Amino acid sequence: MADSVKVALLGCGTVGGEVARLLHEQADELAARAGAPVELAGIAVRRPDKHPELPRHLLTSDAEALVNSDVDVVVELIGGIDPVRKWLLSALHQGKSVVTANKALLAEYSAELSEAADASGADLYFEAAVAGAIPLLRPLRESLAGDRITRVLGIVNGTTNYILSAMDETGSGYAETLDEASRLGYAEADPTADVDGYDAASKAAILASLAFHTRVTAHDVHREGIGAIGAADIDAAKALGRTVKLLAICERVLDAEGGESVSARVYPAMIPRSHQLAGVNGAFNAVYVEADAAGELMFFGHGAGGSPTASAVLGDLVAVARNRVLGGRGPRESAHAALPVRPMGMTPTRYHISLDVADKPGVLAQVALVFAEHDVSIAAVRQRDADSTASLVVVTHLAPDAALQSTVDDLAKLEVVREVISVMRVEGDD
Ligand code: NDP
Ligand code: HSE
Repeated sequence: MADSVKVALLGCGTVGGEVARLLHEQADELAARAGAPVELAGIAVRRPDKHPELPRHLLTSDAEALVNSDVDVVVELIGGIDPVRKWLLSALHQGKSVVTANKALLAEYSAELSEAADASGADLYFEAAVAGAIPLLRPLRESLAGDRITRVLGIVNGTTNYILSAMDETGSGYAETLDEASRLGYAEADPTADVDGYDAASKAAILASLAFHTRVTAHDVHREGIGAIGAADIDAAKALGRTVKLLAICERVLDAEGGESVSARVYPAMIPRSHQLAGVNGAFNAVYVEADAAGELMFFGHGAGGSPTASAVLGDLVAVARNRVLGGRGPRESAHAALPVRPMGMTPTRYHISLDVADKPGVLAQVALVFAEHDVSIAAVRQRDADSTASLVVVTHLAPDAALQSTVDDLAKLEVVREVISVMRVEGDD
């Protein structure tokens, strides 16, 4: 068997702690699979004195020195952009392979990191960055490399899926459900990145980049969170046989001349209860992929948590260790298609619009006229009466998002519309 593969572990919290444990407990198995012992050469944490469970001689608070020491692979499980970015660039420039779960970093600096890896011939693996334990990035990068992916649609944030599932199940409101999720440990102390959609947008950028061989960053992803979803929205979805999910949607879109572009977006949307993603509840993740030859594929499992995420990290670690032992590299960045990213306003979407209107003759005609003026086709209308008012629900066909937004703006200006109660996007066939 070849010499050992020396590993620097940066970060030993929820995920890193499990990686360290499994590296120790499964050392023989991992060595057999990698072709050489995978040896933990050092562990960088912020506060070494808070980690009595770890071997003292391995611990350091100087991550930079550990990266620059005699190691072959850097496993980064700290998170965030600075100072991690410079450490990983330094590792890659030195020809040290990197395994990371850091979606925030990858969604902004994937190109820079990939170029550094290419310059030195090092590996850059990041399976754990999207959907935790679920093997998803390797299928996109390798198994489907010969196919043409048209769509990636998924639930990639467990916190928001837990909240929306609980609201659907119990009928409770957003704020109380978020409190409950925090109390049970599903939501972090600061849930902003999850509930405002930043986490899902980073993941969508990574998925779109891999699926469409195009550099897509988090800034290219249209993002909306779940903070405005109320119990009334969930009820409205139920009345239509739908449920509300925070979706990451990455699509190859054709324009009228047949030119291709990429749409990447994250928002809560109503999907039919019969949809494959509707039954994905609690903190689970699921991603649905459509490709020309493969057809429809579905990936499901634990999208977060120390041990599930460590499974993906260790899979990458074995792969890069094997590459070190045998020579050669894993897949490089593939961005040759360089498709343009379509602005949200030009992206075809569908809306569910709920209006509080006066209940008198001619109201429906005025409302319908606004839709017609913006060339938005109506798919269904429902009316519920109460005294002299009525609530009118309109579901549209596909139309450019900007046209739908303008329709809503003009509906709000109509005298007969007392209030635009809610507007939500609709995905999936009826
Ligand atoms: P934690 O907050 O649990 O752990 C972070 C670790 O980084 C801690 O050990 C901390 O040290 C250490 N650290 C922080 N700053 C420094 C520094 N400047 N120098 C050295 N060490 C430092 O994070 P997670 O394990 O939850 O997440 C790690 C990564 O994995 C993130 O990129 C996250 O997005 C990603 N991820 C996490 C998932 C999860 O379920 N938690 C799922 C998928 C991906 P100390 O212990 O001393 O505080
Ligand atoms: N906060 C993320 C989630 C963790 O809720 O899914 C995994 O990236």
